[in-house]
Amino acid sequence: MQKLNLFNTPGNGCESFLKATFTFMMISFILAIFPGCSEETSPDFTVVKDLNIGAFNQALADKGKSAFSIKCVACHKYDTRLVGPPLRGITKKRTPEYIVSMIMYPEQMQEKNDTIIALVKTYLTKMTNQNVNQNEALAIYEHLRDISGSK
Ligand code: HEC
Repeated sequence: MQKLNLFNTPGNGCESFLKATFTFMMISFILAIFPGCSEETSPDFTVVKDLNIGAFNQALADKGKSAFSIKCVACHKYDTRLVGPPLRGITKKRTPEYIVSMIMYPEQMQEKNDTIIALVKTYLTKMTNQNVNQNEALAIYEHLRDISGSK
């Protein structure tokens, strides 16, 4: 029967040590390179795409106002900074896709949208997911449109 020889054959132990070291270095290298590739950021990244925002709808905005008062006021005021930035005027400053993406998927925006990445650095805290579905997000968007005067 052949003996299991890990270290007792001259030359062989050294060779397998080198092989193991080489393999370890290659794996470290690959792990270091690939997350860098997949985490590309952009100023235009949004999760929700191609929203079709129609004429201003007051009833929808009123629904959004009450959702806003439950899910957003802990961190946002209209005109002054709180935990997060003031939101009056936001619909003139940002696209509907950006705003609705931030309302529904803040984590992905914090990872990939350059504007949000910069805001996280300014506000030193991350907006948390409020479990808002798309209908509710669109209603909140309509409310933001209402207070921003961009009807
Ligand atoms: C836990 C606090 C918190 C809650 C709750 C919260 N936000 Fe935020 N929000 C933030 C912070 C902080 C930022 C700045 C970006 C970051 O750090 O994640 C932000 C950023 C934003 C932005 C981008 C602002 C800009 O100038 O581009 C929008 C839009 C927004 N929030 C809307 C909302 C809405 C609507 C709700 C309710 C559904 C909400 N947020 C709930 C903390 C919060």
